[in-house]
Amino acid sequence: MNISVVGTGYVGSVTGVSLAEIGHHVICIDIDQQKVLVMNNGQSPIYEPHLEHLMQKNLQSGHLSFTTSYLNGLSSADVVYIAVGTPQLPDGTADLQFIEQAAHDIAFSITQDTIVVMKSTVPVGTNDKIKTIIQEAAASNITIEMVSNPEFLREGSAIHDTFNGDRIVIGAENKRAASVIESINAPFGLPIYHTDLKSAEMIKYASNAFLATKISFINEISAICEKVGANIEDVALGMGKDKRIGEQFLKAGIGYGGSCFPKDTNALVQLAGNNHHDFKLLKSVIEVNNSQQLKLFQKAKETIGDLQGKTIALLGLAFKPNTDDMREAASIPIARSLVEAGAKVVAYDPIAIPNAKGFLPEEVVFKETIEEALIDTDAVFILTEWAEIKEIDLSTFQRLMKSPVVIDGRNCYSLHEVSRFPIHYISIGRPTIISKLVPL
Ligand code: UGA
Repeated sequence: MNISVVGTGYVGSVTGVSLAEIGHHVICIDIDQQKVLVMNNGQSPIYEPHLEHLMQKNLQSGHLSFTTSYLNGLSSADVVYIAVGTPQLPDGTADLQFIEQAAHDIAFSITQDTIVVMKSTVPVGTNDKIKTIIQEAAASNITIEMVSNPEFLREGSAIHDTFNGDRIVIGAENKRAASVIESINAPFGLPIYHTDLKSAEMIKYASNAFLATKISFINEISAICEKVGANIEDVALGMGKDKRIGEQFLKAGIGYGGSCFPKDTNALVQLAGNNHHDFKLLKSVIEVNNSQQLKLFQKAKETIGDLQGKTIALLGLAFKPNTDDMREAASIPIARSLVEAGAKVVAYDPIAIPNAKGFLPEEVVFKETIEEALIDTDAVFILTEWAEIKEIDLSTFQRLMKSPVVIDGRNCYSLHEVSRFPIHYISIGRPTIISKLVPL
């Protein structure tokens, strides 16, 4: 099948590469010339495990190419995927300008009946609107069919998720279009679930909102655990053993970040409001998440006192491990608050430093290793649970820091292990370990 993918951001590049890997001929279109050049040379502009390898493999086999030209990219396409961004407008609604632009560009370049597949996360009803835009702007003898095929990939494990996902959702009004998209996806060997267009659009938002709800719920339970002396790790495990609850997405921490949950929860609240439904539960989920990051800062202040002139290390800057994505990362408000409080902030991340420079205050000093970041610091915040941060020899804190105060926003270490070292250890939803050896 000849497939075109419009947009080579996260979703577009992973979609294009994965469809090429299962045997389709894929052309990815992006207006960014530099990006297209880089990708045609087999380099991925984003850090995502296995993406670059599969990109190179499929460029070499001739199954994959990148272009800036809609005309070249769409001339022989049987199916066109839209995978452009839907960022958040100031009021929380999804900004559809890139989707609408893509729709116009597609309409002017297609030469035959086309199935248009929406991969981008779009509010319910958008596929109908986009069909109208393309249909009206395209040549009058061309028929457009829309399919909503939301993606459920997580950054950092996107390729793995594509080949091992729980389901592929195909929403369509036209049975033939749905069956074409089913046959395109068949080689993934995953369960396929058919719905109408609007239900598929809603499945995406409802799934992200539900996962965000799980996270805010467990973070609220963690706050109560701290007050009553329970351990959130044990509580989450005990809850998760119930299959109706499930063990995943019950990890308490500094709240959810990234390009999806914050944006999609706000968009769903707006969508509900626009349809005269006050989505109180989801509003609370968002509120809890917004306060979660600052709670960690508050804990630091309570422990260390005045932060003026103190040197504080941040370990982990990306919004989660295995990505260089800094969007809505907890490190941003925490670094800002520390700098505003007069602290000297040093920071380390294995991958995200080049991106972090555009997001963190200019006063932040970046270091190349964990050790360099820890030297002579008064406290350290652990903000992303990278494997190398989880595997630190705990004696390192005492060896390098001026005072080993560890504020762990990701519960990276077992309390039992920590208690063997002279560390003052504050984590989420677990008792604080106070070492008498640490001067505060
Ligand atoms: C999320 C969804 O998990 C994907 O299914 C979806 O396709 C994607 O959004 C999207 O809409 O594009 P992603 O944002 O890449 O994926 O990352 P997640 O692994 O879901 O993590 C999101 C945030 O929640 C991170 O900040 C993470 O640290 C936090 N989180 C996750 C927790 O705090 N606790 C958990 O138990 C799980």
